[in-house]
Amino acid sequence: MAKLAGLGRSGFLRHSNESLRLIIMTIIGVVVGVLIGISFPAVSITKLHFPSSIISYIEDKNSGITTQALLNHAWTSASQNKNKPSSSESAKIFVPTNPRGAERLAPGIIVPESDFYLRRLWGNPSEDLPIKQKYLVTFTVGLGQKRNIDAAVKKFSENFTILLFHYDGRTSEWDDLEWSKRAIHVSVRKQTKWWYAKRFLHPDIVAPYEYIFIWDEDLGVEHFDAEKYIALVKKHGLEISQPGLEPNKGLTWQMTKRRGDREVHKETEEKPGWCSDPHLPPCAAFVEIMAPVFSRDAWRCVWHMIQNDLIHGWGLDFALRKCVDPAHEKIGVVDSQWIIHQVVPSLGNQGQAEKGKAPWEGVRDRCRKEWTMFQDRMSDAEKAYYKLMGITAPNTTHA
Ligand SMILES: *[C@@H]1O[C@H](CO)[C@@H](O)[C@H](O)[C@H]1NC(C)=O
Ligand SMILES: *[C@@H]1O[C@H](CO)[C@@H](O)[C@H](O)[C@H]1NC(C)=O
Repeated sequence: MAKLAGLGRSGFLRHSNESLRLIIMTIIGVVVGVLIGISFPAVSITKLHFPSSIISYIEDKNSGITTQALLNHAWTSASQNKNKPSSSESAKIFVPTNPRGAERLAPGIIVPESDFYLRRLWGNPSEDLPIKQKYLVTFTVGLGQKRNIDAAVKKFSENFTILLFHYDGRTSEWDDLEWSKRAIHVSVRKQTKWWYAKRFLHPDIVAPYEYIFIWDEDLGVEHFDAEKYIALVKKHGLEISQPGLEPNKGLTWQMTKRRGDREVHKETEEKPGWCSDPHLPPCAAFVEIMAPVFSRDAWRCVWHMIQNDLIHGWGLDFALRKCVDPAHEKIGVVDSQWIIHQVVPSLGNQGQAEKGKAPWEGVRDRCRKEWTMFQDRMSDAEKAYYKLMGITAPNTTHA
């Protein structure tokens, strides 16, 4: 209403003095109000086509369209629909099955999911995207690893959307790389991979991507090809996976060690006593957090599991199995496309010296604290659930 009345200003009222303008604007306001009042019992407000009137007015404002024409247009479109019986009450939209908060919209207009596709500022929107990438790869980067990331990105085909999270705030220094211009750059200082992932990889935003790679910056990718990796992941039904790690370099767990004699593996042997059950981490249903790859559905679950204050993500690897079933079949390591963990200290030494401890010690302590907090929250939540349901909790919840 206010908008419509205001539109008269740039038209025939331009040369009037201030008070006359005010009066006429008020009159227009009243006229429009009456119009809407008259048409309300007969037609729903959505049938008035006000938005298109306003758009055509804005387009034509330099060619001298008048307020009268605008009102006529509104009136005509309203009266065209007069015969349809509907009361103003039943014409109100409320669809409880819509996404929460969008109940007042007609379901046909709702777009519950988005993407990272880059669009043009001109032309026909349907022709904006020559290719709709099916996969997403994110790297959490600092400028120090520019060369390594450049090499890594080249292992991902044009079917991947590339998203960089910059933890050092230096993004323009990447401009000279050809692929950087079509990559998405998110710059927030001194945050971690899981902090970015929780905030910028909401499942509804990354919904078009079949697989999502959430990778560290210090991975050697000479023996890795992303398209071949995806083919293997599909072939072996892996919902959560990682490439095998070159032995003897930054290796913590047997499970993620590359096997030379097969395409993938889903279980391993650990040191005696480490695995309470051969189907449980760290002997199976387990990948590390440095280079995980999630299917769309698995990521939707894992995103919900990531706690906002747990940013290093320690302990997450042991809990990934909660998101797929059966976990020991759908989580695995791809051996024939493998990577080298170069173990470059990056964020690790960006902590703060405190109480006589080196920065990296402070970060490590925080990592451990997070792990404990995460485990406690998970087991508390599960206990609460089982209690509520009157079920005896299985013994394996803490693994
Ligand atoms: C990208 O995806 C299309 C469609 O699946 C496929 O035909 C093409 O080979 C892929 N590109 C590469 C480089 O593998
Ligand atoms: C579960 O754990 C408790 C104590 O740790 C033990 O007494 C019990 O036998 C276990 N139950 C099963 C089914 O393994």
